Amino acid sequence: MLQRARAWFYRLRMKARGIQQVSDDYRLLKAGQPLTAEGWKVPSAAAWQHREFERLLGDVRSGNPRIDFQIAAEAIKATGHDNPRIIEVGCGSGYYSEALSLLLGRRIRYVGIDFSPAMVSLARAKFDEGEFLAGDACHLPLRNECCDILLNGTSIMHIANYRAAIAESVRTSREWCIFHTVPLVARRETTIMHKLAYGQRVVEVVFNQTEFESMLSESGLVINRTFQSIPYDVSEILNEPSWTVTYLCRKR
Ligand SMILES: C[S@@+](CC[C@H](N)C(=O)[O-])C[C@H]1O[C@@H](n2cnc3c(N)ncnc32)[C@H](O)[C@@H]1O
Repeated sequence: MLQRARAWFYRLRMKARGIQQVSDDYRLLKAGQPLTAEGWKVPSAAAWQHREFERLLGDVRSGNPRIDFQIAAEAIKATGHDNPRIIEVGCGSGYYSEALSLLLGRRIRYVGIDFSPAMVSLARAKFDEGEFLAGDACHLPLRNECCDILLNGTSIMHIANYRAAIAESVRTSREWCIFHTVPLVARRETTIMHKLAYGQRVVEVVFNQTEFESMLSESGLVINRTFQSIPYDVSEILNEPSWTVTYLCRKR
């Protein structure tokens, strides 16, 4: 309760000073409102996300990685592959290519895909450890079973057609799918909100945990391990606790 009140006052102070947060102005999507994701394609959003993660990548370089970077690497290690071909869907400006290589302690075979041309061109300019492609998670420009690990990089939450994105993950991976940092609630049904991400309006899906796990199973996946990811509190909007989990799944 106290924490929620503090968060509310903090946001109020920021608003009064005209300071915008990385994630701001969450609202429930009302019937008939567009399922907008185009905000991710705006160059200023790509540049802002990149600036934020340059700082976090600095922490990875200095041996102090944030928990989401750590558990992405742990989930990859848990597959037991020593040199897997990894495809990250929703790679943003590509910083996971370097972070994973640092955390796994070797060069990795990595391809990053994002549907935002602005993100992809930043990734190509900034990172040379991977290959970067433009493509939509719901229609991946990839052949069947072309990688060992399909890593959904904190993007399933921004894809209104999440069932198609899960099906595409299963199609394109030979063995493993990782859904990284999935926002969950226990009681309310899967809920679509919208918010400002890096100053641009995008959708954000918070999944009912049982529904999400059933969907994984119906898509032909078995949950192998779960990892707690970064804190995620939208209880002010949803009126119940919310959190994030990274799922390591194997194809049945
Ligand atoms: C929250 S960022 C995650 C970036 C990075 N993977 C991370 O974990 O920090 C979400 C990314 O997903 C991308 N994205 C959203 N919808 C997508 C879609 N349908 N297909 C591919 N990428 C998408 C956005 O452009 C954005 O770069």
